[in-house]
Amino acid sequence: MKTLKDGKRRTTSSRRWLERQLSDPFVAEAKRQGYRSRAALKLVEMEAKAKLLRPGRRVVDLGAAPGGWTQVAVERVKPAPGKGAVVAIDITPMAAIGDATLLELDAFAPDAPQRILEALGGPADILLSDMAPPATGHGSTDHLRSMALAEAALALADDLLRPGGGFLVKILQGGGEVEYERLMRRKFEGTRRLKPASSRADSREIYMLGTGFRGPGIN
Ligand SMILES: C[S@@+](CC[C@H](N)C(=O)[O-])C[C@H]1O[C@@H](n2cnc3c(N)ncnc32)[C@H](O)[C@@H]1O
Repeated sequence: MKTLKDGKRRTTSSRRWLERQLSDPFVAEAKRQGYRSRAALKLVEMEAKAKLLRPGRRVVDLGAAPGGWTQVAVERVKPAPGKGAVVAIDITPMAAIGDATLLELDAFAPDAPQRILEALGGPADILLSDMAPPATGHGSTDHLRSMALAEAALALADDLLRPGGGFLVKILQGGGEVEYERLMRRKFEGTRRLKPASSRADSREIYMLGTGFRGPGIN
């Protein structure tokens, strides 16, 4: 493991995080491939099974900063005027990415559906959410906040997603995901859990994939 010799003072947890980042092969690989985050590799890996991102599709990327997933989406969708779109949303500002439209927006904002639909130019084919709350280190708090974000993403599916569309959402497990998965089964023709190898094995993070959206109003 590389040690940190930059002389900066850090808390134990931030030092551990930084040491893990520096020795993480996925961080190095993401950088080598030109991605802004190691998260990009998770999407690449899940896409091998999910096959959501096809040229010409309209894609929403919730919780997009710093932009790794958006980079992957742009590469695959190849948005062009009138043909496909990638709309990336985050409460944190992001630097421009190719032909993606970036919106500095809270997924809970009442005007979020309207603003996203305007930027998309029509209903979404695919809704992605890698949204995560700031980690408190307190397991059940982080779980509950993650579930609230996953629920916001699923509510946005009702407003944005066309029937037949696809949905991929991050969840920090802790109990609430069981009921969430039941709801996803009602709303989608197919539901499955994904845990990419590039998602840290010791993290409670998983992803849920929904395919064949049955349309809004099913609860
Ligand atoms: C794990 S990061 C996303 C990484 C990103 N997918 C990538 O590939 O670079 C989670 C993001 O969720 C965002 N987020 C958290 N709460 C949000 C909310 N209410 N609305 C929009 N974004 C939110 C955070 O600001 C953070 O940038």
